[in-house]
Amino acid sequence: MAKVTIQKLKEMKQKGEKISMVTAYDYAQAVLVEKSGIEIILVGDSLAMTMLGNEGTVQLTTDEMIAHIKPVVKGAPTPMIVGDMVFGSYNESISQAIRSANRLMKEGGCDVIKLEGGRPEVVSAIVEAGIPVQGHIGLTPQTASMLGGFKVQGKSLEAAQRIIDEAKALEEAGAFSIVVECVPEELGRAITEAVSIPIIGIGAGRYCDGQVLVFHDMLGLFDKFLPKFVKQYAQIGDEIVKSLSTYKEEVRQGAFPEEKHTFGGLSREDLKDL
Ligand code: KIV
Ligand code: NA
Repeated sequence: MAKVTIQKLKEMKQKGEKISMVTAYDYAQAVLVEKSGIEIILVGDSLAMTMLGNEGTVQLTTDEMIAHIKPVVKGAPTPMIVGDMVFGSYNESISQAIRSANRLMKEGGCDVIKLEGGRPEVVSAIVEAGIPVQGHIGLTPQTASMLGGFKVQGKSLEAAQRIIDEAKALEEAGAFSIVVECVPEELGRAITEAVSIPIIGIGAGRYCDGQVLVFHDMLGLFDKFLPKFVKQYAQIGDEIVKSLSTYKEEVRQGAFPEEKHTFGGLSREDLKDL
């Protein structure tokens, strides 16, 4: 399959073909996503929770993000790879933001970067520096405490207008796409119709140009909580626990390994005087 490009995503929006996106954070996961035909992989800062066991995403560093982007790039040559800018790596200055984006691209090897918030001046500076940017508005987990927690955003008319204005401003600033998280379905539709760039929803209803889910959430690999907007396509975690328990039991009973798992050669007799 040919590498997924910004142009291809734009054409998909124009033709009304839905775009799928999922997170992945290591080589093994990336290989699985590559085989699925999903168009976009996000190496999301959600890895702080799903892979590193942190309570939230704020403490993740750019070094840690880079360490996860690298194996994903190796495992998935076809999907577009999005590197997520971590909290604190783009809120000091425009030059800090460009420097952080450069690091994800050069050291990580991702194709594009994503950042949270409606800050068009930051987006346009990174785009002018030659790096494609995906925006992320609505619920922005890095600053969720300022939004009143992990809650649906844009419920009042004024708040909805603000989010639509942010989407338009990000498009104007040169963003090639925007993730919209946790807004009412009709606001998700209004945003999607208000801009010509692909809108990828998560908890943003059925009318976005595409959808994104967290790998561990959709596959049953994260058991701390499950947002309402997630569909679990499998319970892989339960399968893994079943396999591990069976292995443990077979080792305990001497049922594993069997002869077919062993190496022959020297006999017991040969070794008796050693
Ligand atoms: O980090 C992440 O997984 C994300 C998605 C939820 C969009 O930003
Ligand atoms: Na993220």
